[in-house]
Amino acid sequence: MAVEEEPGGDVLARTAGMTGVALGIDIGGTGMKAAPVDLATGSLLHKRYRVLTPQPAKPKAVAEVCRELVSHFAWQGPIGVTFPAVIKRGVVRTAANVDSRWIGTDADGLLTETTGCPVAVLNDADAAGIAEMRFGAGTGRSGTTIMVTLGTGIGTALFVDSVLVPNTELGHIELRGKDAEERAAANVRETQDLSWKAWAEHVDDYLAAIEALLSPDLIIIGGGVSEDSDKWFKYLVREAEVVPAALGNNAGIVGAALFAPVTVTAPT
Ligand code: BGC
Repeated sequence: MAVEEEPGGDVLARTAGMTGVALGIDIGGTGMKAAPVDLATGSLLHKRYRVLTPQPAKPKAVAEVCRELVSHFAWQGPIGVTFPAVIKRGVVRTAANVDSRWIGTDADGLLTETTGCPVAVLNDADAAGIAEMRFGAGTGRSGTTIMVTLGTGIGTALFVDSVLVPNTELGHIELRGKDAEERAAANVRETQDLSWKAWAEHVDDYLAAIEALLSPDLIIIGGGVSEDSDKWFKYLVREAEVVPAALGNNAGIVGAALFAPVTVTAPT
């Protein structure tokens, strides 16, 4: 069976038992990184390759850099790509932290044409969540799990019994009169020069709002700050279990690869 293009529903079930290799590309606001991924284990088969995101990050310029990443690995085969926006059937629908010219772009089509390989694009937080549910902190977990990535923005991926509800965009809920990502994203700590404690209180406030809405059983925190969890998790007073992501910065690449349009054999 072929993996479908929509990330929603049972992408984990559809790809369970999948073997083979796909290239994962993670597009971020500052950097773009890629590596071939072993789909059965989630391990990277080569050291990942990172280049700067072109500025301005217009669709064609970003697509050219994707071509460069593909050539670096002399890759010919299926590719999964993350993008920090709502993606519906490969088409970009929002642009909170990216160039607005992406809105309406058929990212699947553009990247397939530019790289010459079959490409499927999904939201960056959804990709990280898929990887964590398959190989990381959410493995084998049932109930309601939410992955929250804290970076320049806030990304969210919601799973109910391992089934993804795609494009949740809960980083944009209103928190004390502001877009939540303006209060609790990781870069707020840096730009406002907050202590870990002061910033963690903002994050706790945000997670309290998420708990009020969804009563998750498990909250997985991703993004670079998850690697410093010893500095700030102690200030969180949530009812749900809160854990750092296990795959660190590679979660996006691994989740992207799992979403690549690979032809897989259903497990027997
Ligand atoms: C975007 C999301 C993205 C998140 C993390 C937000 O600003 O709206 O689509 O997942 O940033 O990159």
